[in-house]
Amino acid sequence: MVEQTFSPPADSVLWNKDFLIGAATAAYQIEGAIHEDGRLPSIWDTFSATPGKTLAGDTGEVACDHYHRWEQDVELLASLNVGAYRLSISWPRVMTLDGQPNQKGIAFYRKLLKALRAKGLQTYVTLYHWDLPQHLEDKGGWVNRDTAYKFAEYADMISRELKGLVDAWATLNEPWCSAMHGYGTGHHAPGKQDVVFATQAMHHLLLGHGLAVKHLRANDPSAQVGIVANVGRGTSTDSSAIGQRAAWLFELQHNNWVLDPLLKKSYPSALWELWPGAEPTILNGDMDIIGAPLDFLGINYYFRTNVVSDGKHGYTEVDLEGVERTQMGWEVYPDGLRHLLVGFHRDYPNLPPIYITENGMATDDAVVDGEVHDEQRISFLNRHLEAVNQAVKAGVDVRGYFIWSLMDNFEWAFGYERRFGIIHVDYATQKRTLKRSAKLVTQFLAERSAKN
Ligand code: FCB
Repeated sequence: MVEQTFSPPADSVLWNKDFLIGAATAAYQIEGAIHEDGRLPSIWDTFSATPGKTLAGDTGEVACDHYHRWEQDVELLASLNVGAYRLSISWPRVMTLDGQPNQKGIAFYRKLLKALRAKGLQTYVTLYHWDLPQHLEDKGGWVNRDTAYKFAEYADMISRELKGLVDAWATLNEPWCSAMHGYGTGHHAPGKQDVVFATQAMHHLLLGHGLAVKHLRANDPSAQVGIVANVGRGTSTDSSAIGQRAAWLFELQHNNWVLDPLLKKSYPSALWELWPGAEPTILNGDMDIIGAPLDFLGINYYFRTNVVSDGKHGYTEVDLEGVERTQMGWEVYPDGLRHLLVGFHRDYPNLPPIYITENGMATDDAVVDGEVHDEQRISFLNRHLEAVNQAVKAGVDVRGYFIWSLMDNFEWAFGYERRFGIIHVDYATQKRTLKRSAKLVTQFLAERSAKN
């Protein structure tokens, strides 16, 4: 691929210094040190140690060894000129079996957050990026309503401990993935496979979110409070009403299943046509808790999915030929991001300000003569940032964008083979190397601050 440049159009919102540009990671994907300082086992330790669950049997046992190399990583991050860092806290690291604070684990995040602040970086902290303590899964995990209350206790405790060090708290990362891949398809931990579990898990995740919001606001009033949802664009090459309904259902299942309860205090009823009999148990008052006002909504976007009707109530995914794809096999489709943002703005009158909390791609990167030419990623970032710019021009209140990811890391069921970072990690030596994408983003941000 020819060498790409990174230069947003002169009138792009990206040139506005208040438009936040950051990079993101998650605890289990980078930290390693799974047995240190009293950390308890998580569902991802169990799942990834189970033969056949991850590519090459990879686990997060060492990952990027960030738990020990965090100072160097903060230096690197700050050298990119970004304005913010999105990280997650490992629940099993900070809470003991009997629900007390684990001060050794908490100390890690305290020093990390202080170092980020000292570098002038804003801190976007996710409380739950998929690493449920295993002892809670042993009692039913998110299918058990009690886990929602346990999550609220954790949110209460950690926001007291870390108050004043966080700019924005996000309760959950991608409840759709936790519910669907964790309890429906079984692709993710804990690997359960029943749609009835998935819908009940979703309800308890969202309930946990709503309960946590109250504590976060009370304990840390100066921080923003929100949640992060993954969204997908669904289209169909079948232009018939049946084909278009399939595409509509795809988006309903992926996007509205999560956004409607949060922003309309109800689940879309068509879900129960798609999954007859899978309606979760909802207690009086739950939907009001779930629909508590948000300061921001985090949106994670990666690709478009093409579907056709399955001839019954649902849809089937059919891969399009001849489209650009990433190392994950995901279609590169920037306009999907613009389209979805404009649609949410139209459909949800109370849509809070949006941050793109994840966007990026995996490439099969290698260091050659000290350099990593990730040209496809540069082009991907350019095009998706332009899609965001267009959404802003169309009236959507998007305030920032986080690249997934700061560095190559443990990509869940795909292990270490899939490289999403703008910084390359050599897992044998733990050497970090800035990819060309990181260098161009850095250069752009330097130019931007010189202009402002
Ligand atoms: C998202 C996850 C994130 C990362 C990217 C590629 O679904 O939130 O941790 O794995 O996908």
